[in-house]
Amino acid sequence: MQRKAAGVVDRGRLEICCTLRGTGGSNPSLSAEYEEMFVERNSNGKRAIVIGATSGIGREVTKKLLSEGWRLGIAGRREKELSELQNLAPNQIAFQTLDVTHTDAPECLRQLISQTGGMDLFFLASGIGHQNVALESDIEMQIVATNVEGFTRIAIAAFHYFKEQKHGHIAVISSIAGTKGLGVAPAYSATKRFQNTYIEALAQLAHIEQVNIHFTDIRPGFVATALLNDSKNYPLLMSPERVATHIIRALNRRKRVVVIDIRYAILVFFWKLIPRWLWVRMRIKN
Ligand SMILES: NC(=O)c1ccc[n+]([C@@H]2O[C@H](COP(=O)([O-])OP(=O)(O)OC[C@H]3O[C@@H](n4cnc5c(N)ncnc54)[C@H](OP(=O)(O)O)[C@@H]3O)[C@@H](O)[C@H]2O)c1
Repeated sequence: MQRKAAGVVDRGRLEICCTLRGTGGSNPSLSAEYEEMFVERNSNGKRAIVIGATSGIGREVTKKLLSEGWRLGIAGRREKELSELQNLAPNQIAFQTLDVTHTDAPECLRQLISQTGGMDLFFLASGIGHQNVALESDIEMQIVATNVEGFTRIAIAAFHYFKEQKHGHIAVISSIAGTKGLGVAPAYSATKRFQNTYIEALAQLAHIEQVNIHFTDIRPGFVATALLNDSKNYPLLMSPERVATHIIRALNRRKRVVVIDIRYAILVFFWKLIPRWLWVRMRIKN
């Protein structure tokens, strides 16, 4: 997990407004591989919005959804990365810069949905995480702002949209880190637990209100992405491509909760059995 000095703004990005780029237009640089995907796409007819598509797991899931024939609306803060991804299939992908910590994020989402032509699947991959044994307040608060406030803000917007539409699928990437409080990453593990609980609450709310919304809470173990870009050795490290394959399978099966992969599912099963008095005495570093 990244370690950051207090006060450092994540990747130096500051103000982001709703910058929308539509679908359409030809792309002479379109690779043969994606041209093939593009042709396949026309058969699906479904629309997915991916928030946090600019890198890591979200980017890989975007590419796999593209190959499965989804029409896509993608978002994140980095315009260049969004534009590069859109260039893979310009007629099938719309993009918009969006920062979940900003109050205009729901409006940006609404515009992106409109540009995409609707939304059947809302996929939320945005998140940050840092180890912070020094408990630097800025770092902890930044994680809370993104993984709790931003997460809630954008999840609510998706819920409202699907409630009005009367159907939809909300999928989020949380983490196995939400299973227990991790001493080396207090805000990260606590915010991931929040996400697990929030999605469970929304699922119950949808049931109470008799709205046909499916929910998938995706809980991966360690994945080799920018989120873990320190020089540490993480055990059982998985590639984002492999994790994306698991995610697509879980989405197609409309799984409610999925731990990726089976090794982590076994680990989590045993973690949960550890009594609290013993857990706090364990020196878990990664
Ligand atoms: N890597 C792991 O080991 C691991 C394990 C379990 C769970 N996860 C979770 O998986 C999710 C994806 O992380 P990753 O590993 O793929 O890392 P990543 O490559 O750093 O991707 C994080 C994504 O979140 C987006 N993002 C961050 N802050 C945002 C904001 N304020 N507004 C909108 N988008 C924002 C980033 O886009 P911009 O920077 O362009 O905004 C980027 O697309 C996270 O929720 C993470 O907690 C990761």
